Amino acid sequence: MKHISQAKEIIKENWRDGFTVPTSMLYPFQWMWDSGFVALGTSTYDIKMSLTEIDKMFSGQWKNGMLPHILFHSEKENTYFPNFDFWESSVNEGAPNSPKSSGITQPAVFGFILQEILRAHWKNEEVRKFVKDIFPKVVNYHRFLYDYRDPHKEGLFYIYHPWESGRDNSPLWDESMNKIEIPDGAIPSYQRRDTALANTNERPTQNQYDRYVYLLELGKKYKYDGRQIAEESPFLIQDNMMNAILIKSNQSLIEIASELDLDASEIKEWQELSLSNYDDKFWNEELGLYVGYDLRHNKQLLHKEIGGLVPLFANIPSKPKAAKMNNYLQDLTKRGYYLCPSFDVDSPLFESQRYWRGPIWPQMNYMLYKGLKNYEYLETAEIVKDDLNTLIDKLGFYEYFESQKEIVKHLSKGYGGGNFSWTASSYLLLNRKTK
Ligand code: DGY
Repeated sequence: MKHISQAKEIIKENWRDGFTVPTSMLYPFQWMWDSGFVALGTSTYDIKMSLTEIDKMFSGQWKNGMLPHILFHSEKENTYFPNFDFWESSVNEGAPNSPKSSGITQPAVFGFILQEILRAHWKNEEVRKFVKDIFPKVVNYHRFLYDYRDPHKEGLFYIYHPWESGRDNSPLWDESMNKIEIPDGAIPSYQRRDTALANTNERPTQNQYDRYVYLLELGKKYKYDGRQIAEESPFLIQDNMMNAILIKSNQSLIEIASELDLDASEIKEWQELSLSNYDDKFWNEELGLYVGYDLRHNKQLLHKEIGGLVPLFANIPSKPKAAKMNNYLQDLTKRGYYLCPSFDVDSPLFESQRYWRGPIWPQMNYMLYKGLKNYEYLETAEIVKDDLNTLIDKLGFYEYFESQKEIVKHLSKGYGGGNFSWTASSYLLLNRKTK
């Protein structure tokens, strides 16, 4: 609780023309799910800033409903790869000319974010009007996922690039990524920028980057048309976490619709279909967690990782399943880990410093905290909150953090980018007075 004013200061410094950058050099544009979490954070003290950020995000929505994971509001920044000219969003005729964007999406956070904002500002007429006006755009985004990204009409959409999941280099994707055969000459020459700005040990490997670029090129080749990509992409995953967040946001939209007298019939149909297939597809009894599904090779991705806990946030698991998930967290805390490492600490693939292969991520703690509270695991929820507070208080507002308590004792900073917007925002959200 020591650093509330510093958190606000960081967000202010990362504020550009109507939006926040995640951190100034490493990610100098508007990122979709970062932006959502930051708008939620700023809504606790500056509602105007919050609504402006959301509006700005939707200024980049494509005609087919897609919300891109990056909006390149400035074409002058040169510290990031792949930049707007590499993505060439103009190959899709429904992509706006300005802002230019990437050709992939990210977790569907805006439904639940709008609901949280609406609830906290119910008496503010401007907020109610804002939510009413933006509602069809959010629905349109969800429609995109169901129409273009769900080839078998299961109510569970796919991703074709690990960056879409937000958990870029999680070992979850290793097997599917390693199966990709890259034909000679399929990757144009490129130069990474991230490793000049963050420690190489804390970033994805070169081999992974080649595959990221290959999948990007594949999307571009098919004009970012989700239906064609579903047929051609060697990487086709139904991510349990992204689908849980979609379900959470559907539910929020359904409730917003009933409060503001809007039509939710289509959303209710999607929701029913998604929920009817979710557990069969993603629950793994042996691991006691939800897992992803490789749609190209028809198999579950058998790893314990942070996304497997997010269904708690969407009220998806039954009570016995939720109890297993709570045990998983309790076990980690007893064994000397801060909550919650992004990957299975007992796996040989665990790497405590490398991005999504082990470190703790602030916005994940926020969703877990809320999810555990949904199921009245209040003690574990408090640990999830206190651990993040402890890490930020000791190590600063970094992008991600070491989870092993013994190691943290000897550290003076976190990992990845510094002065990070969603770290500041998660801190504000977890420490606000009313939750
Ligand atoms: C990056 O550049 O590392 C991003 O996570 C991709 O969106």
